Amino acid sequence: METKIIVAGIGPGARDYLLPAALAAIENARYLVGGQRALNDYSHDKQVTQVIDRDIQKTLDFIAEALNHHDVVVMVSGDPGFHSFLTRLRAVFGAQKLVVIPGISSLQVAFARLALPWQDAAFLSLHGHDESAAALAYRPGRTIGLLLDGKMHAAEAAKKLQACGWPGTAFVGVCANLSYPDEQIWRGTLQEALQVPAQAMCVMVVAG
Ligand SMILES: C[S@@+](CC[C@H](N)C(=O)[O-])C[C@H]1O[C@@H](n2cnc3c(N)ncnc32)[C@H](O)[C@@H]1O
Repeated sequence: METKIIVAGIGPGARDYLLPAALAAIENARYLVGGQRALNDYSHDKQVTQVIDRDIQKTLDFIAEALNHHDVVVMVSGDPGFHSFLTRLRAVFGAQKLVVIPGISSLQVAFARLALPWQDAAFLSLHGHDESAAALAYRPGRTIGLLLDGKMHAAEAAKKLQACGWPGTAFVGVCANLSYPDEQIWRGTLQEALQVPAQAMCVMVVAG
């Protein structure tokens, strides 16, 4: 039987926000791949595990070898379809080799925390990634959800958005450590966001 790579979205992190289908795949996995935090939270000692770190080739080699024996479950944060390892897995192994289990994106949780509808929002990433001035440009009524990180944190993103024409009065929500006990939700203006302290695991919503 052909083996598959099962890419399971684990949501923002807490077990309450993990779909039962993803949990079943993770618990039944013989070969389990994921970030260190996900492996700490979800792996058990009957599994062969591989951490996803800076050495991506090592992880890809582990998956290729494991596929000779069994399916491999790869855990990714949030939803696999939004800025995750899925892009690389698809490029290397091809879509036919993949089964994707969706997860709740960090940005879905952020919009929920802020009680903001997201049907008209744009979703972009400044996490290890840049976006063009055109993509970030201000237009009245526009809403953008942005992935950030410890380097491109809220204050840096606020500077970038002001340079793209966003007014200092625009609404900003900054959501850090979503679903974890130390979750923080900050609401204010773009001008005030210039003073928000850096957080490693963080997203921002801006609405004009
Ligand atoms: C590699 S991207 C993965 C995005 C993911 N696929 C998603 O749908 O949320 C990592 C970024 O997701 C965001 N993120 C993931 N989990 C988060 C959480 N629990 N709280 C806040 N932001 C989170 C942060 O912006 C982080 O830098």
